[in-house]
Amino acid sequence: MSEQLEGRNSTVEAAIENERDRQESTLGMIASENHVSEAVMNAQGSVFTNKYAEGYPGGRYYGGCEHANTVEELAVERAKRLWGAEHVNVQPHSGTQANMGVYFAMLDPGDRILSLSLSHGGHLSHGHSVNFSGQLYEVEQYEVDPETGYIDYDEFATHAREFDPDLIVSGSSAYPREFDFERFAAVAEEVDAYHLADIAHITGLVAAGEHSNPVPHADFVTGSTHKTIRAGRGGIIMCDEEHADAVDSAVFPGAQGGPLMHNIAGKAAGFGEALEPEFEEYATRVVENAKTLASVLRERGFSLVSGGTDKHLVLVDLRDSHPDLTGKEAETALDRVGIVVNKNTVPGESRSPMVTSGIRIGTPAVTTRGFDAEAMQTVAETIADVLDAPDDETVLEQARGDVGRLCQEFPIYE
Ligand SMILES: Cc1ncc(COP(=O)(O)O)c(C=O)c1O
Repeated sequence: MSEQLEGRNSTVEAAIENERDRQESTLGMIASENHVSEAVMNAQGSVFTNKYAEGYPGGRYYGGCEHANTVEELAVERAKRLWGAEHVNVQPHSGTQANMGVYFAMLDPGDRILSLSLSHGGHLSHGHSVNFSGQLYEVEQYEVDPETGYIDYDEFATHAREFDPDLIVSGSSAYPREFDFERFAAVAEEVDAYHLADIAHITGLVAAGEHSNPVPHADFVTGSTHKTIRAGRGGIIMCDEEHADAVDSAVFPGAQGGPLMHNIAGKAAGFGEALEPEFEEYATRVVENAKTLASVLRERGFSLVSGGTDKHLVLVDLRDSHPDLTGKEAETALDRVGIVVNKNTVPGESRSPMVTSGIRIGTPAVTTRGFDAEAMQTVAETIADVLDAPDDETVLEQARGDVGRLCQEFPIYE
């Protein structure tokens, strides 16, 4: 612990230590979270946090940017190799800002966006009324088929023809199935709309070839850099050269000021790790683990939206199997035994987003810890036990013991 933190910032330092202990001693199963390497953390906690570098490599508004240029150019070059895009902007501070960059580049206020509904798996930044995207643009949303839980592409196409959007968003926060980006692209072309594929959740799966890549099919691809790819918090935009200038000036100076150079250094480091062959094994295991989780939960009588998963997450719909258990109560019960998930709305939701009827469970972080099929099986059974008897102290005690053993067997940083 540094002297300064011990003295003036002891509360902050203690919170950091406590958070590290919390992560080591619980199982992080929030689908959008992961554990970065020490190298990525060092980059993000580096002296680059001190540096202003408004502009882009080759055209900065500040002096002293030579090393900032090095990390930004490296992050861009590595991203191009990972996803195959012609142009990459690594400056968005987050996934939401990446989407903002694309909207600002291509749309005027009042233009039309067609995107997946939040309660069917979409994201706030796809046009929800509480987000800038829903306030600046006219938004309509497509949904999943209530029977199958899959996107109904025919209905989506009809909706697009009727609404005549300027931009169509594919991509999601809680849709457990693969996106057919080619079909989205065909509809976008037919109705003369731009196609934005938001791969925030699946950047790593796409980079590793575990999910189809939208780069050849979409006009714009946005993503987060801290979910299934372990490059620290941030966002990214990819597009063809033809839109490069529009995107770059929408990000800076349009939507942001100085780039977070420490985060860009983290992106460069994390993208480098994702180019190693082990990353493909990691991504394969993330999906295998999610499938194991899905199959155990199904065997234990739980309903899953769409019946299973192709990706890194499952979405449990508690309404059939546990009608009296809300998502909020399920989240709390699991939290009490050290399994950290989030409550989540499900298609056709009748409860509020703060209560919900579902939980979303993800495998990226536990897979980073080294979880194999056996560990996954154990944690899936534990989740089922707890949700079946959330008030039974004997069950909870047994579950705490299982979680503790798994955490010790699969440490994160030690
Ligand atoms: C599909 C999608 N887009 C965008 C975002 C926003 O990312 P951020 O939280 O980095 O703004 C998320 C976050 O979970 C997401 O799931």
